[in-house]
Amino acid sequence: MKFFLDTANLEEIKKIKSIGMLDGITTNPSLISKENIYNENDVKKHYISICKLLDEGKYLSVEVISTDYHNIINEAKKLSILDPNKIVIKVPMTIDGIKSIQFFSKKKIKTNCTLIFSVGQALLAAKSGAYYISPFLGRLDDISYNGLKLIEEIKKVFFNFNFKTKILAASIRNPIHIIECAKIGIHAITTPINTIYSLFNHPMTNIGLNKFLEDYKKKIK
Ligand code: G3P
Repeated sequence: MKFFLDTANLEEIKKIKSIGMLDGITTNPSLISKENIYNENDVKKHYISICKLLDEGKYLSVEVISTDYHNIINEAKKLSILDPNKIVIKVPMTIDGIKSIQFFSKKKIKTNCTLIFSVGQALLAAKSGAYYISPFLGRLDDISYNGLKLIEEIKKVFFNFNFKTKILAASIRNPIHIIECAKIGIHAITTPINTIYSLFNHPMTNIGLNKFLEDYKKKIK
């Protein structure tokens, strides 16, 4: 299962890359707004800097801020040329978004249909040729729906019709989400840096390591 980092922060990207766990990056307008960037030109430069940190074959999802079909197409074209091999155009699940995904699918430009909260929405995106869909687990859990159940159902539907669209589980908030997605057999998850670090933790590992080192140092001088 691929680990995507849900961030626009260069330092976080470098940290996860340094531990060999960076398979891709997803951003969104809220994440971009957390960085010290104040104009469109610098946003574009920032996307280029992120792409430079990504190895070949790894993708950065960049979300459009336009909402109508023609503006989505124009904006996405400008974003895509920043690094055509690495940038995946992230488009919201709306009628105009879906029409744009169909347009880009014909042009062989990869898209990520975001803000997916139902099987029906996932089906529409897959039928339109989305390369990824991003179902938001955590935000469904927040409103007392079962995010993992949604992912399982989408996987079954995609299997039934042999859709090539990949499931990129988003809004991942804890290690259990990651482990359950792995058990379901999801292509990729995207999550903040701390969730990836939390996978390392187990109290028995710390206790065991301390004991090994203590025993050694007691005897070996
Ligand atoms: O990038 C979209 C998604 O991962 C957002 O997550 O935690 O803001 O619900 P969250």
